[in-house]
Amino acid sequence: LGLKKEVNVLCLGLDNSGKTTIINRLKPSNAQVQDIVPTIGFSIEKFKTSSLSFTVFDMSGQGRYRNLWEHYYKEGQAIIFVIDSADKLRMVVAKEELDTLLNHPDIKHRRIPILFFANKMDMRDALTSVKVSQLLCLENIKDKPWHICATNALTGDGLQEGVDWLQGPLR
Ligand code: GTP
Ligand code: MG
Repeated sequence: LGLKKEVNVLCLGLDNSGKTTIINRLKPSNAQVQDIVPTIGFSIEKFKTSSLSFTVFDMSGQGRYRNLWEHYYKEGQAIIFVIDSADKLRMVVAKEELDTLLNHPDIKHRRIPILFFANKMDMRDALTSVKVSQLLCLENIKDKPWHICATNALTGDGLQEGVDWLQGPLR
């Protein structure tokens, strides 16, 4: 009766990929903010779907804060990993951070679901989600449920599809 399962989600990815913009979009419209600034450290946000109540750790992606991520891995029950699909130069950095995440002792042996958002699809030079998936070698992830969606956080396109998928492995 209105009781939703609580799920802790870690929102990870490089700085400027659009994590905070995405999380803001998933919140009810009366809770959304207009101006989004680069995250300092991290911020805790909440949003609900029909069956789940999400608590999101929206981490800063800036290099100097990335060492904070691992302290929250144990508490995370799902991961949203955001990629700037137009940032070709840093795709290799995104892959390095993903590989570090996947090899971390608090993540490595868990069937934690990972939702990838190939974001900024509206940018003229954005790579397709298939290309992003290839560059990040996602097909090598065999021991965790994962899914990639092409998104535009400015319009919200693709976000719902991703969250709908995430509900499956969390049920
Ligand atoms: P950090 O907090 O520094 O790790 O960055 P972040 O990943 O939270 O990125 P943030 O949400 O702050 O967005 C960075 C910039 O990208 C902002 O200017 C957003 O408006 C812009 N942005 C986010 N998503 C999109 C998108 O889908 N398309 C376009 N064109 N711009 C986007
Ligand atoms: Mg942010």
